[in-house]
Amino acid sequence: MRKVESVLITGTTSGVGRALLEHYAKGGARVVAVNRRRVAELEAQFPSVRFECADVRSAQQVERLVHGLAESAQLPRAFILNAGINRVDNDQAFELASYREFIDTNLYGVLNFVQPLTQSPTGHVVRHVIAISSMANYVGNPYGLGYCTSKRALTMCFDVWSRMYAETDLVFQQVMLGPVPTAMYSMTDQFPAWMARIRGLCCISPEQTVQAISRFALTRRKKLFIPWRGVPLYLSMWLGQSLIPGFFQGRKTLAGKVRRKPGPTHDASRDE
Ligand SMILES: NC(=O)c1ccc[n+]([C@@H]2O[C@H](COP(=O)([O-])OP(=O)(O)OC[C@H]3O[C@@H](n4cnc5c(N)ncnc54)[C@H](OP(=O)(O)O)[C@@H]3O)[C@@H](O)[C@H]2O)c1
Repeated sequence: MRKVESVLITGTTSGVGRALLEHYAKGGARVVAVNRRRVAELEAQFPSVRFECADVRSAQQVERLVHGLAESAQLPRAFILNAGINRVDNDQAFELASYREFIDTNLYGVLNFVQPLTQSPTGHVVRHVIAISSMANYVGNPYGLGYCTSKRALTMCFDVWSRMYAETDLVFQQVMLGPVPTAMYSMTDQFPAWMARIRGLCCISPEQTVQAISRFALTRRKKLFIPWRGVPLYLSMWLGQSLIPGFFQGRKTLAGKVRRKPGPTHDASRDE
């Protein structure tokens, strides 16, 4: 396992990002932490960390940050693009603004880093771009339309880039997380009780998650799936949706809740 000497991490104010920050800072790595807001307590706790304020949704802010690091020869070896959002969305009706926020954060929040990195001049240093994604991208979840589709798009992009840039100094890696008890995980959702129980059994802690990510970072492996014990949850979500008609019906989802009145039937004979 190669030691990470320098790393940029997005979204370090809580959850997995906060645990990553702690792990690398305590391990003596040069850490750049990117958050959309300043947290004085965090900055005081980790004086060796360089805290940068940027909203990952803003291409200009991210580009300025990456160019600034490159110009001062401070571009880290690893970029752990962890910032993300999740909540029950589009449950009453489709809302474009809500959907756009997911795509802007979970998808463009990563792509905004990839653009300047792929355009920066090639060098002798191999840089690893590591996206923190989710197993949910494979199975979908009607309670998280924006979340699942944004993570799915990310998977496709990274699959393509990891082949496209295979022989270059850029390595694209993805971490497919299962449930981790963080602020995001504890959002209220509409899972049936038995499924919520399975999810509880499938969890691993942010610290265990970080241990696995740190063993994976700086390898040439494209994907890390953790935890394997999350498989029963995702299998039951997938089977429920695919095989049982009306599995999610009657619950508070887009499919179960919205009842639009049918419009007037078009009578073609009247057009003549
Ligand atoms: N927890 C799970 O069960 C789980 C499962 C699968 C995948 N994941 C993935 O793991 C990653 C971390 O999630 P988590 O569970 O640690 O969630 P979390 O505790 O809610 O942390 C999310 C972090 O992202 C930051 N963030 C959100 N929008 C941002 C923006 N526009 N610009 C900059 N930072 C922003 C948040 O900052 P603020 O404090 O400012 O909001 C926070 O620091 C996410 O990508 C998530 O999809 C988590």
